[in-house]
Amino acid sequence: MPTIAGPSLSSYKHIVGAGTETREIPRKRKLRSDSAEVSLSSENFITTPKKSKSHRQSTTSNSRLSEKEDANENLANPVNLAVESLPDCLGTKSNWNPRDEEKMRAVKEALHVSKAPSTIVCRDDEQQRILEFVKGCVDQRKADSLYICGCPGTGKSLSMEKVVQQVSDWSEQEGLPHVDTLSLNCTSLTKSTDIFSKILGEIEPGTKASGSSSPLQYLQFLFSQKQESSSSRMILLIADEMDYLITKDLGVLHDLFMLTTLPFSRCILIGVANAIDLADRFLPKLKSVRCKPMVITFRAYSKDQILRILQERLTGFPYVAFQPKALELCARKVAAASGDMRKALSVCRSALDILEIEISGSTGQELQGPTPDDPVVRMDHMANALSKTFRSPVVETIQSLPQHQQIIVCSAAKAFRGNKKDATVGELNKLYLEICKSWTISPAGITEFSNMCTVLNDQGILKLGQARGDKIKRVSLRVDESDITFALQGIRFFRNCLR
Ligand SMILES: Nc1ncnc2c1ncn2[C@@H]1O[C@H](COP(=O)(O)OP(=O)(O)O)[C@@H](O)[C@H]1O
Ligand SMILES: [Mg+2]
Repeated sequence: MPTIAGPSLSSYKHIVGAGTETREIPRKRKLRSDSAEVSLSSENFITTPKKSKSHRQSTTSNSRLSEKEDANENLANPVNLAVESLPDCLGTKSNWNPRDEEKMRAVKEALHVSKAPSTIVCRDDEQQRILEFVKGCVDQRKADSLYICGCPGTGKSLSMEKVVQQVSDWSEQEGLPHVDTLSLNCTSLTKSTDIFSKILGEIEPGTKASGSSSPLQYLQFLFSQKQESSSSRMILLIADEMDYLITKDLGVLHDLFMLTTLPFSRCILIGVANAIDLADRFLPKLKSVRCKPMVITFRAYSKDQILRILQERLTGFPYVAFQPKALELCARKVAAASGDMRKALSVCRSALDILEIEISGSTGQELQGPTPDDPVVRMDHMANALSKTFRSPVVETIQSLPQHQQIIVCSAAKAFRGNKKDATVGELNKLYLEICKSWTISPAGITEFSNMCTVLNDQGILKLGQARGDKIKRVSLRVDESDITFALQGIRFFRNCLR
């Protein structure tokens, strides 16, 4: 039987450690290990061709592609791009210098998951609804439950911290007694039933559950009796990462929510879960015993929301570290993959690391040449960082193809835009020849081209039909155009081709 220790009863407590650490409501967030954090090594984005006898030509033209790439990179000035789209209020933007450790550190910090943003954008509606729910319970001195769910990185924990602060401000303004708040991260519990001893410790500090009754039973007893003191306060219990309380029969979750239904319960329960299917499994069961928590779903962030959040976190710096298009690329890819803000932040930090590694090999003087100016994170840095985070077999396969095969894939992506589903090998070859010509690359002959199409068919990238003559075989794409764009956009040559 656990002994319920009685920590001093402060109005706001966050138990974040292994059930023992109690801290004031955080202004700064807990630093957590981030599984999305990617390894930070430099990666050459220009694909090294596989040595193959039949595609010897690929090898000779690789250097050409690289030269073109370099030449074009010099023409582009990402700094100008960034400056153009910046609000005037941010002042001069030219003083970004990635070699300046202080500036680099400040930008990385602003993009760290542990750094609480000064403003939380894109979650006003959800926060408002949670706040109204708590206010309603406090006003009516009514116990109730709220179930919040959403995929990881959708701002649930962050929003809860804000709401806790808002509840505190509100009760102070209204002259109401403080609402005891217990924020529990369920991952910190040694076993799921420990949640009941934590609640009991908060409600009745120093109380020990007697030998014959468990903390849960004690709480059930307490909430079934008329309270002696009419001033007994409500307790706001936030059970974050509630997924950790899932047991086979969902018994702990069930008992927890049922506490709010007892006649003299003082518990305002907010359960926060990442598992979105939990609601389907669990809520009907509760409903059958007349417990109907309100449900608020945090939807995955869209591309525009991710972009806005990133921009918001970077606003306030008197310099620009990212090309706007690079941020947009990050937002688009993360939104398409998961909408997980943690991933977006991690990718941006990784892109900064890649930039850092890139410039560490060159001297400052080189970089003060005519163009580019102070290097910012460009599309290629971001694409590199993204590919480290979102390794997909299709993308990896495309990236590791010899370059002539990549040109064919690129031609196919162009050929099958819109409603066009397939073409003949001859038609695809025409497009391939046009691309080669525009970049003065000597093309492969039709037999070799056809062989390369067969290789791509075997790799699962193209689908080749049967026909007597090679040129009249029908060909279609088996992969998404977006995967091709993503895989190849780090190389300017392909970026231009795919436009
Ligand atoms: N609206 C937002 N504005 C700024 N940063 C955000 C926002 N939403 C999420 N984040 C950041 O993303 C990370 C993950 O958010 P979090 O609230 O922990 O997600 P969840 O609890 O849904 O898994 C945090 O580091 C947080 O700072
Ligand atoms: Mg969370």
